[in-house]
Amino acid sequence: MALTDLSIPHSDEGLPTDARRLIRVAEKRIDDFQIWSRIPAFVPGNYEGAFRVLRALAENPLSRGNRFCEWGSGFGVVTCLAAMLEFDACGIEIEAELVGESRRLADDYALTAEFVIGSFVPRGGESRVYAAGEYAWMTTDSDYAYEELGLDLDDMDVVFAYPWPDEEVVTGELFDRYAGPGAVLVTHHGGDDFRLRRKRAKSPRRR
Ligand SMILES: C[S@@+](CC[C@H](N)C(=O)[O-])C[C@H]1O[C@@H](n2cnc3c(N)ncnc32)[C@H](O)[C@@H]1O
Repeated sequence: MALTDLSIPHSDEGLPTDARRLIRVAEKRIDDFQIWSRIPAFVPGNYEGAFRVLRALAENPLSRGNRFCEWGSGFGVVTCLAAMLEFDACGIEIEAELVGESRRLADDYALTAEFVIGSFVPRGGESRVYAAGEYAWMTTDSDYAYEELGLDLDDMDVVFAYPWPDEEVVTGELFDRYAGPGAVLVTHHGGDDFRLRRKRAKSPRRR
């Protein structure tokens, strides 16, 4: 199986007011949070850019469905934006404090988004993660989040991740190994750089 790169449909359309407001409030909360509680693995992403990519996914027939999962959801901003775009959205984050902030953000905007504390690395995937190298921040030392969600990774239609540079390869490998055929991986690589890849659907068996 392999991942196929997809191009991201371009749109000049601005962000709706509710998304802009949520991003502004979240960024202010993140600034305050980082003064008193430093979680070095958490680096906020480009939320306006993430909204644009998710909107393109919602409006174009690129993904097979609308079940969305953010791997390492941090403050929960991208998952909340996905919920605003009517994805069935959940976020998995290993740091309990960040999950608390994510739930508060979703509640404040009356968004239906589920956040669980745990690891996005599925059961059985840990050895693959460590065989691929060592990481500055990525860890697998937590509960298995999918069990709490009552879902498997191959139920997810869209997975979003903002991996640290040394996690980029293993992020693609985990998705390739455990996501369902036709699912889409959106990765953020800093600045305005987003990448969209789809796991190939199984080709029919030849006789
Ligand atoms: C670079 S931050 C990105 C946060 C968020 N996605 C965003 O765009 O703002 C990576 C996040 O992944 C979390 N993380 C690292 N390893 C994890 C794992 N195995 N399972 C769940 N979260 C993890 C970190 O705690 C951190 O919050």
